Amino acid sequence: MTRASAPGKVILFGEHAVVYGQPALAVPVTQVQATAVVQPSDSGLLIEARNVGRRYGLADAPPDDPLAAAVRLTLSRLAVRTPPAVALVVESTIPIASGLGSGAAVCTAVVRALANYLNYPITNPEVSSIVFETEKLLHGTPSGIDNTVVAYGQPVYFVKGQPPELFTVAQSFQLLIADTGLPSLTKLAVADVRAAYEKEPDRYTQLFNAIGDIASEARTLIETGHPTELGPLMNRNHALLHEIGVSCPELEALVTAAQDAGALGAKLSGGGRGGNMLALVAPETEAAVRAALDKAGVKRVIGTHVGV
Ligand code: PMV
Repeated sequence: MTRASAPGKVILFGEHAVVYGQPALAVPVTQVQATAVVQPSDSGLLIEARNVGRRYGLADAPPDDPLAAAVRLTLSRLAVRTPPAVALVVESTIPIASGLGSGAAVCTAVVRALANYLNYPITNPEVSSIVFETEKLLHGTPSGIDNTVVAYGQPVYFVKGQPPELFTVAQSFQLLIADTGLPSLTKLAVADVRAAYEKEPDRYTQLFNAIGDIASEARTLIETGHPTELGPLMNRNHALLHEIGVSCPELEALVTAAQDAGALGAKLSGGGRGGNMLALVAPETEAAVRAALDKAGVKRVIGTHVGV
């Protein structure tokens, strides 16, 4: 039996603007994981996606099935013509459609588990490029940030079309990742931003540039050990995301609650219109921010230390 897992992720800064060539920062979230296990099967290559209660043969999967695509692309990369008779059992604790990278993580786990089973020492760039193809099936025109941070499992500074830069966290910091409980399809938010950009290209270009500047500044603060100064940048990035039209009342309620309760900063994370927000907290304000998020109707909170 071979097993591989992959973490979830959050985008710290730069979502949406990254689609237009601006830098973005993302970090893995190891508190949630996707796992793929390869077991012997007596009826060809089977995929069992436990969270969605589906079990199907590779041969029967439609071309746009991301897990099947991950398998096909891995086999083709390894020049394996006949799929092995195995069941790939996939499980995940990462909430779906909430900006935590669930799609990229399940596909990353599948690619790694299959490559391990076939004794192929697959590299992070290979995994990332295969998962990028599967992300296209899920998201349409992904920037590539999700597959990169999940496949590398390290903080990344990402500019579309360029090799990812891994960056170091000089001093750790604590985030609360708070779920609105509202599932949201990144594909739709990205398409709406595209339509708005086409209507008002100059205004949107300015907004994207401002977000990109924040992401670059944030990288410097993280690398030089000034994490508390990220708070005001998060608040500014959130205001810009609100302006480009990807917030929603549920996200606003959580962001405002966290800010009012003493978080150093707060912003939505990922595609927006639901999903998760992030609050940067100090040890002395964590409990008050958690209580405020509860009161504001949060569905669940994951606490994570970045850089530990
Ligand atoms: O997958 P999500 O919801 O974390 O969003 C991805 C970030 C976007 O910038 C909105 C889209 C992209 O492809 O980069």
